[in-house]
Amino acid sequence: MCGIVGYIGKKSALPILMEGLKRMEYRGYDSAGIALISNGKLIIRKQKGKVADLENKLLDGEPLPEAHIGMGHTRWATHGEPNDINAHPHIDCRNEIAVVHNGIIENYLALKTKLLQRGHHFVSTTDTEIVAHLIEEIYKSTPNLFEAVRLAMKQVTGTYGLVVLSSHEPDKIVVARMGSPLILGIGEGENIVAADAAAIIEHTRQVVYLGDGEVAELTADNVTIKTLNDVKITKVVDELTFDLEQIEKGGFPHFMLKEIHEQSESIENALRGRLLEEEGNVRLGGLDNVVEKIEHAPRLIFAACGTSWHAALIGEYMLEQYAQIPVEVEYASEFRYRNPILKKDDVVVLISQSGETADTLAALREAKAKGATVIGICNVVGSSIARESDGGVYIHAGPEIGVASTKAFTSQLTVLALLTILLARRKGMTREQGLELVHELKLLPEKVKAILSDTKQIEYIAGEFKEMKNFLYLGRGYNFPVALEGALKLKEISYIHAEGYPAAEMKHGPIALIDEKMPVVCIAPFDRTYDKIMSNIQEVKARRGRVIAIVNDGEKNIGQLADYLISVPPTLDLFSPILSVIPLQLLAYYIAVARGANVDQPRNLAKSVTVE
Ligand code: F6R
Repeated sequence: MCGIVGYIGKKSALPILMEGLKRMEYRGYDSAGIALISNGKLIIRKQKGKVADLENKLLDGEPLPEAHIGMGHTRWATHGEPNDINAHPHIDCRNEIAVVHNGIIENYLALKTKLLQRGHHFVSTTDTEIVAHLIEEIYKSTPNLFEAVRLAMKQVTGTYGLVVLSSHEPDKIVVARMGSPLILGIGEGENIVAADAAAIIEHTRQVVYLGDGEVAELTADNVTIKTLNDVKITKVVDELTFDLEQIEKGGFPHFMLKEIHEQSESIENALRGRLLEEEGNVRLGGLDNVVEKIEHAPRLIFAACGTSWHAALIGEYMLEQYAQIPVEVEYASEFRYRNPILKKDDVVVLISQSGETADTLAALREAKAKGATVIGICNVVGSSIARESDGGVYIHAGPEIGVASTKAFTSQLTVLALLTILLARRKGMTREQGLELVHELKLLPEKVKAILSDTKQIEYIAGEFKEMKNFLYLGRGYNFPVALEGALKLKEISYIHAEGYPAAEMKHGPIALIDEKMPVVCIAPFDRTYDKIMSNIQEVKARRGRVIAIVNDGEKNIGQLADYLISVPPTLDLFSPILSVIPLQLLAYYIAVARGANVDQPRNLAKSVTVE
């Protein structure tokens, strides 16, 4: 969702801002803009469309004067359609204060009414524009940008990651955060602020994560942070741990394909240092202070969105089967608003790649407010969910840039498997059973490699089915959530309607849809539901449905029924989704590419959904 970058220092600001915006394109957006201050004047350029469109606009126009301070923004529309006027930055009446914003100002109508009465003039239909005018209004009596922003944001309700420039104070950038991430990159003689570490890493590894309700002033040499209540605070400086090449495509045509192919390594990274091979057990240091609570919790509640929610469903199956702990899985967006009953010993587990998803973060806060222990399973180090949890486990998948989540999903499953072993061993699983699980987990990276070593059959099938309008995905047991995930992958990048179902549910309705135009993807590994899903495949074939079956190497029976087979190595039931999802990721990818879709920037989607 919206990208934000701001720079102040000795270098020319514009190239840094443009590069930063490009690095954040993957987050999803529909317009882009920049603001610079040069010779005491604000210069704004903005444009509907891509960063490249903005770049062309800059090249076509008069060259911009040199500037050493500026900010850039990519907007993902919430209030007001994507057009040049609604693009950020937004300015006050006198073109002296400029604002870029990620989030939603909830009381913007009330504030706008007051500002209109005070004679302010608005040009856009955004909620953000009121912030520029509100600061302008306060600045009249408080001519200090830092202070004016702080006072303005005290009047605002909603969420924001905000960056503000004033031509009256061309030596500073003021930023504020409530619910939308902002990271301050601390350089030498320069400072940079961004919504995403990807825009900072080229300039510095030293970062400060701004917290909710904090306001900061950045000059070239200094950073001052205060709370909205005017209390000065000192924060720890963290270090970014990933490399530039991890956020580049490395020879692949799309980030999504690159990340699919990284899965052997990312699963290995999720396991690294965590397996106690002799003991048939695992170590998860981030849970040390809460593991007893989890072990004795009457139930665990998983809350997540999208792909992470699918991972949670699989986690439920794992934990209930092996650790005998009751688990409930909730959509974070429902959990946060439905006043859920939480008992004091309940443990709420938030699963989020980004660690910034607005609904999941709100679910965390709701659970905390009700006294529950909260655990985060996140990818992005230092993200809000990671920081606000009582304990947690990083999945260590490395930066995931592809909008369609792939490697984060398999790494989430790997961590859930580790959590299952940890808890199961504490609750009576024998060493022998633990050894079997740990041993099989260790084999997964090689098995993933084997699947990825030859993807031609999947590419071929994609070509055969690329014109289809609908797809059905069926799975049972551990692979039912994989059916949901396969369908989600296909719809989000290829725009083909797809639905996932527990295979047995087909008879209760969806079977009416089946004919020769309905491809059905059946996930049918050798597991305890094997015979059952084979019957479901028969039912599909009896109605002339075309079946693509994901099976295990060595499969003999399904080949006689299904139209196409994709084979993956066998593994234990609980780990099977980690392997069976990979062909589905590839199928979605190759179908989308065959249809000419822009896989890395699918329409309407944002990578990190920081508004509700
Ligand atoms: C789908 C996808 C989304 C995310 C969802 C949650 O490919 O990426 O469904 O899984 O927006 O995001 P996180 O995991 O960052 O909370």
